[in-house]
Amino acid sequence: MLKYNGLLPYICNPAMITKPTIDRIMEATDIVEVIGEFVQLKKRGANYVGLSPFSNERTPSFTVSPVKGIFHDFSSGKGGTVVTFLMELEKFTYPEALKWLAKKYGIEVEETITSPENREAENRREALMIVTTYATKFFHDTLLETEEGRNIGLSYFKERGFNNDTIKKFELGYSPDQWEAFSGQAIKDGYLPQYLEETGLSIKRDNGSLYDRWRGRVMFPIHSFTGRVIAFGGRTLKNDKNSPKYVNSPESEIYHKSSVLYGLYFAKKAIREEDNCLLVEGYADVISVHQAGIENVVASSGTSLTVEQIRLIGRLTKNITILYDGDAAGIKASLRGLDMILEEGLNVKVVLFPDGHDPDSYVRSVGTAAFKKYITDTRKDFILYKTDILLKDAGNDPIKRAEVIREIVESIAKIPDSIKASVFIKECSYQLKIDERALLTELNKMRMAKAKKNSQQQAQRYQPEELPPPDELYAQEIEESKPKDDSTQEKEIIRLLLLYGSRMIDWDGIANTYIGPFMVAELSDVEFDYPPVKRFMEIYRQEVENGVLPEEQFFIHYPEKEIVDITVTLIASKYTLSENWYEMHKITVPDEQVNMKATILGAIFHLKKQKVGKILDRLRSELQTTESENDQEILLNQYVHMKKVEKNISDYLGSVILK
Ligand code: UTP
Ligand code: MN
Repeated sequence: MLKYNGLLPYICNPAMITKPTIDRIMEATDIVEVIGEFVQLKKRGANYVGLSPFSNERTPSFTVSPVKGIFHDFSSGKGGTVVTFLMELEKFTYPEALKWLAKKYGIEVEETITSPENREAENRREALMIVTTYATKFFHDTLLETEEGRNIGLSYFKERGFNNDTIKKFELGYSPDQWEAFSGQAIKDGYLPQYLEETGLSIKRDNGSLYDRWRGRVMFPIHSFTGRVIAFGGRTLKNDKNSPKYVNSPESEIYHKSSVLYGLYFAKKAIREEDNCLLVEGYADVISVHQAGIENVVASSGTSLTVEQIRLIGRLTKNITILYDGDAAGIKASLRGLDMILEEGLNVKVVLFPDGHDPDSYVRSVGTAAFKKYITDTRKDFILYKTDILLKDAGNDPIKRAEVIREIVESIAKIPDSIKASVFIKECSYQLKIDERALLTELNKMRMAKAKKNSQQQAQRYQPEELPPPDELYAQEIEESKPKDDSTQEKEIIRLLLLYGSRMIDWDGIANTYIGPFMVAELSDVEFDYPPVKRFMEIYRQEVENGVLPEEQFFIHYPEKEIVDITVTLIASKYTLSENWYEMHKITVPDEQVNMKATILGAIFHLKKQKVGKILDRLRSELQTTESENDQEILLNQYVHMKKVEKNISDYLGSVILK
C-alpha cells in the first residue's frame, strides 16, 4: 500500500486503486445514503425520488434505485452508479470518488503505481490539493509550535475567543512574517514551484524565485464541500490602512470562488438536520457561531451571493436566514441581490443585529441560548423586511411610494410558488396600506410580461426557416435530421438486448435460440451511427463471441462512462414506466413480451428499413446532382435495388407484426 507523504515522485507517478479495494468500497456503499447527503430523497415504491441536483427543476424527476444501485436524472439525462454521481456532482475524478467513499465507509485504500502518462487532469488537481494540504499543515504547525506563531497568531485567536478544538477543527494557522518562510520550506520538502504558484500560495518574482503571498497573517483554510482545503484567507494583524484586512487565494483549478461557501463542509449535516442555513458575512462569524454550538452556518466571504452558492445551499435546505451586521447602507445595497434567492425557490429570512454587532461579537456577548432566541424572535421574511426599509426611505413622497410598491411586487413576482406569492401579496398590502386586488393586478401584469418575454425568446431561438430549403440543400437536411431518428431505433436494439438478451425464444416450436446472439447475428450487416450504441454493440458482440451473455449489471458497471450512461438511461426508462405507469393502469405484462418474436424482429427490421431509407435518400440526391450519364446509370441501378430491399423489409415487417 502506498500513502501520499507529500513527496513529488508520487504526484508525478499516481497510484491506481486495486480491484479488491474497489469491490470492498462498492459493497459497503449505500447509494441512497450517499446521494441522500446531496439531495433530499423521498421513498416512492422501490425507488427514491428528489429534485435534480444537476438542473433547477421544481418537480422531482431524479430517481435512485437501491436495488439496481443506480440513479437516473430525467431532467438532465444523467445517470449511473454512485461513483458516476460523485464524479458528476463534485467534479471528482474516478479515483477521487472512490477515495471519498472509502473514507466515508472507513475502508483502507490499496493502491498500485500506474504509468505516468495516465490521468493528467487528476494528477494536476491532486497535486494542487496535496500542496494546499501541505500548506494547511505548515500554517497550523507554525501557529501552534513556533514562538512567533504562538505569540502573535495563537494569542490573537485566543483573544477572539476561539478555543483549541475550534482552532483544530477549522485548521486555523499562521504565516510567519518573512518573505519566503513558506515557499522556501515547501521547495526544500520537494514541492514543485509550478504548483506553489498555481495554488496562489507563492508568487513569482521577475527573476523566477518565489515569495509568500501571506506574511504575518492568521490563516483561514477554505474547505471544499467534501472537506479538502482548496484555498486560504489570511487576515492581517496590523492596523495598516494600506494593506487589505483579508488577502484571499486567487482563482485556481481547484478553487472557484463563486461556487464555494466558507464553512459549508462543517455545516452541511446541521443544515440538513435543522432544515435551515444561516448565512453570515465573514470567516470569524462562521467560526464563532459554530463554536457556540450553532453549526448550520456558512459565509459568502464578503462578496454578494452567487446563483451557484444559492443552489449549493438549496440542495440541503430550502430555508436561508441571512444574519446581517447592523450597517444600514450595506443592507440596502444587498437587497436586490436577494431576489435571486427567491427566484431559486428558497425562503429567505433576515435577522439584523444591534448597531456595532456582527454575529461573531453578538454570540460571544450574549451566549448561545440568547443568540438563538434573538434569531427566532427577530427574523423577518425578506420581502416584508424589504418593504419596511424601502417605505421608511420613501417617507410621504407619493412618487417614491409608488416606486416602492412596484419594486416589492417585482420581488414577489420572482417567487415560483404562486400560493406563497399570494400570501406575501396579502401581507404587503397591509404593510403598504394598499388594496390587495391592486397589488394582485400589478403582480399579474408582471407575470404576463415575463411570460411574454420568455415565449418571445423561445420563438426567436426556434425560428423556423421562412422558405423551404432549396433543392441542393435538401439532401443535407436529411443527413442532419436522420441521425437523431436512427439513434432512437438503434437504442431500441440495446434496450431489448439488455432486457431480453439472455432469454430464449421459441421459433414456431422448432428451434430455440438465445435472443442476444440471434440479434447480433441478424444485425451483423448493419452499421450503427450513434457512437454509444456502436460501442455497446461491439462490446456485446465481443462477449457473445467469448461465450458470455452480458446482462444489465455487466453494463452498469462497465468502466466506460458512455456505456454506463446509455445503459442506465434505457433501464431507468423501463423501470419508472413499469412501476408508475403499468402499475397505475394495472397492466402487469408489457405488451412487447406477449409476442416476443414480433418485438425482436420488429426492432431489427425497423432499423434496417431506416438504414435503407437513408441510403435511398443519399442515392436520390446524388442522382439529382450528378452530370455524368454513366454515373447516373450506376446510381439508378443501385436505387432500384435498394427500393426492392426496402419493399421486402416492409412486406416482412407487415407479416411479422400482423402474425
Ligand atoms: P469583515 O470585515 O466583516 O471581516 O468582512 P470579519 O470576518 O468580520 O473579520 P473580523 O471580525 O474583523 O476579524 C467579512 C468578510 O469579507 C471578506 C472576508 O471573507 C471577511 O470574512 N473580506 C473582507 C475580504 O475578503 N477582504 C477584505 O479585505 C475584507
Ligand atoms: Mn467581524
